[in-house]
Amino acid sequence: VAAAGPPIARESLAAALATARLRTQALTDCLPASELTAQHSPLMSPLVWDLAHVANQEEIWLLRHAGARPPLRPDLDSSYDAFRHPRAERAALPLLSPAEARDYAAEVRALALDVLAEAPAARAFLFAMIAQHEQQHAETMLATHQLRRGRPALHAPAPPRPPGPPAPPALPAEVLVPGGPFTMGVDPADDPWALDNERPAHQVDIPAFWLDTTPVSNAAYQEFIAAGGYHEPRWWHPDGWSHRRQARLTAPAYWYRDVDGRWLRHRFGRVEPVPPDEPVLHVSWYEADAYARWAGRRLPTEAEWEKAARHDPATGRARRHPWGDQPATPRHANLGQRHLRPAPVGGYPDGAAPCGARQLLGDVWEWTASEFTGYPGFAAHPYREYSEVFLDAGYRVLRGGSFGTDPVACRGTFRNWDLPVRRQIFAGFRTCRDADPATGVR
Ligand code: AVJ
Ligand code: FE
Repeated sequence: VAAAGPPIARESLAAALATARLRTQALTDCLPASELTAQHSPLMSPLVWDLAHVANQEEIWLLRHAGARPPLRPDLDSSYDAFRHPRAERAALPLLSPAEARDYAAEVRALALDVLAEAPAARAFLFAMIAQHEQQHAETMLATHQLRRGRPALHAPAPPRPPGPPAPPALPAEVLVPGGPFTMGVDPADDPWALDNERPAHQVDIPAFWLDTTPVSNAAYQEFIAAGGYHEPRWWHPDGWSHRRQARLTAPAYWYRDVDGRWLRHRFGRVEPVPPDEPVLHVSWYEADAYARWAGRRLPTEAEWEKAARHDPATGRARRHPWGDQPATPRHANLGQRHLRPAPVGGYPDGAAPCGARQLLGDVWEWTASEFTGYPGFAAHPYREYSEVFLDAGYRVLRGGSFGTDPVACRGTFRNWDLPVRRQIFAGFRTCRDADPATGVR
């Protein structure tokens, strides 16, 4: 077991658990029971499964492990074990009803708060992990909302437009990330919220490269479509090309054309014209990779992404966030489901990284070139099923979080992963290119 790191204040843990539960409730209380038990997509669990699963994980890790309490509902462990049952089969399990699931979650939570008041400070990580776990499932539930058909159930204001009327001041298309070593990942002593796959901190030497200042926009992605990008095998990874043909991909998920050929998209039960200045959303890794090749560029590795997001050349230190170590606020990034969409590209100047890149955290998850692997010295903590079973298994890493990611589960070191065909997550991308090796620029 890795070092526990400094304790996190009990009030912070209680607040993180309370925030997560309010969000779980908001995502489930807005739908009738029939919609909570329905399978909206074979890619997703019924929402009532997520609801009881977060409670079951909380029982296992906070009541049984942190609190050494006897099992409350051991009979539920099998149905809510994500590894025993694929998502598409969960609706057929003997699940708790929505009312039973809510009662179970409330009962576990009350006991978990008792444990929090008594548990040794060294157990703090389990509470941090469970708050992040519930927020990760909340983002998954938000993706289920996007997949479901029917009347809109969620409402939120649009995110702020970039400053400077009428058009934002032009940003350079790309920024230079200087060459040299930087600290990738983090030790628990320096970030007690970091999950096992973010550890340990290690030095990585990255040659200079040029990175897109912002995520790739819908307008730029439409140029790729208009140029016939979906029909040119030379832009595609061989596996991506066969997948594209077999799945008949011609545009991002949820896009379609109206009778005049204009792009529309379906979002959370509404239809709207595709906004040209928002980051492209709901593309697979294969599509992101093909776009980058068409543009004469490539996807950044996750080490490049993390260097751009964290490395401060002035001090040589790695920051927790692009803007510094201060917590994310609405000024810095579009996180926390305050909005139901990414902000237009070029926003959030206060969240810029030292290299000048914008919107590295929030708005859209960003596909990277890298496969999900363990850092040198990786140790599963505390359970193998969070990360270890997914290492070296063909998953691609995503970085940065989306508008649907809570700040508690988002930081410069945070690593997400999914299969390269997946499009239901809130994922876009940005591209990069090598700098001239002789000069370190151009
Ligand atoms: C980190 C988002 C890939 O949803 O599969 C939830 C998070 N792990 N329950 C996932 C997770 C166990 C995980 N991701
Ligand atoms: Fe889970």
